[in-house]
Amino acid sequence: MPTPPGSSGLKKAEPVASRAPLALVTGAGRGIGHAIAKGLLEDGWHVIATDCDADALDALARSSPDRLPLSIEVLDVTDRAAVAAVFDRYGSLDLLVNNAGIPGRRCAIGTISEAEFRKVLGVNMFGMFIASQEALRRMDEGAAIINIASASYLVSPNVPHYGMTKGAVISLTRSMAMEFRRRGISVNAVGPGAIDTLMQGTLSAEHRAHLARTYSDGPMPPDVIAAAVRYLASPHGRRTRGQALLVDEGTGLGIDLW
Ligand SMILES: NC(=O)c1ccc[n+]([C@@H]2O[C@H](COP(=O)([O-])OP(=O)(O)OC[C@H]3O[C@@H](n4cnc5c(N)ncnc54)[C@H](O)[C@@H]3O)[C@@H](O)[C@H]2O)c1
Repeated sequence: MPTPPGSSGLKKAEPVASRAPLALVTGAGRGIGHAIAKGLLEDGWHVIATDCDADALDALARSSPDRLPLSIEVLDVTDRAAVAAVFDRYGSLDLLVNNAGIPGRRCAIGTISEAEFRKVLGVNMFGMFIASQEALRRMDEGAAIINIASASYLVSPNVPHYGMTKGAVISLTRSMAMEFRRRGISVNAVGPGAIDTLMQGTLSAEHRAHLARTYSDGPMPPDVIAAAVRYLASPHGRRTRGQALLVDEGTGLGIDLW
């Protein structure tokens, strides 16, 4: 893996003169992204934690030991100019984790407005596309992209627009993996099942009760997904290309997806 150049973006504390490989995580302020950022820091990455929520990023910075190379950047993944500006500040990335996502309102297809539909597509699909495109323009051989999809990518009752975006994430993952294989860049996806984050707050009580029965111990902790990302980001993991690793206790094996 190439050694990243020194970086000069916003730092959480003292400027970090880090020669660690450079990873950028989107939506890192809370939930799964937060766990991924912490896990990568433990693995020796210099992590650029980004989120559109500045308060959440502050909480992450406060809870991380000062000795670890953590940079924070307030960033909306749908804003291409802002994404490009952050990438330019840090130079060539070794790892991009496209994690930022929104759930969408739970509703029947007939009741989704075009505005709601575009909003979910905007973050989950275009945000991932924009960040990936800007990263790939700057990545060298040995770099990696990991996209957070969802185990509900095949069918997503009550949130069809959300499920559609996650299917698109996996499709684009495979296309990017094929196109960039010869440049030695690995692109994979991780598809979480039910994970215990704020996103679960959008579920009905009935759905939550179902998940409590379906999973061995209810919705899984975010660290479970961070572990899959840490594996795919490792030298061995980067030999995997174009895969979607579903981490869902097998709940998606049949049609019983929810
Ligand atoms: N929690 C689950 O059960 C579950 C299951 C499958 C997939 N996922 C996926 O995992 C990812 C993380 O979800 P989570 O459960 O941690 O959700 P979460 O709502 O707890 O966290 C999402 C984070 O993304 C940030 N974000 C939202 N829009 C953004 C934007 N435009 N630009 C930058 N940041 C933005 C939010 O501020 C938040 O910090 C999402 O892509 C989600 O679709 C979650």
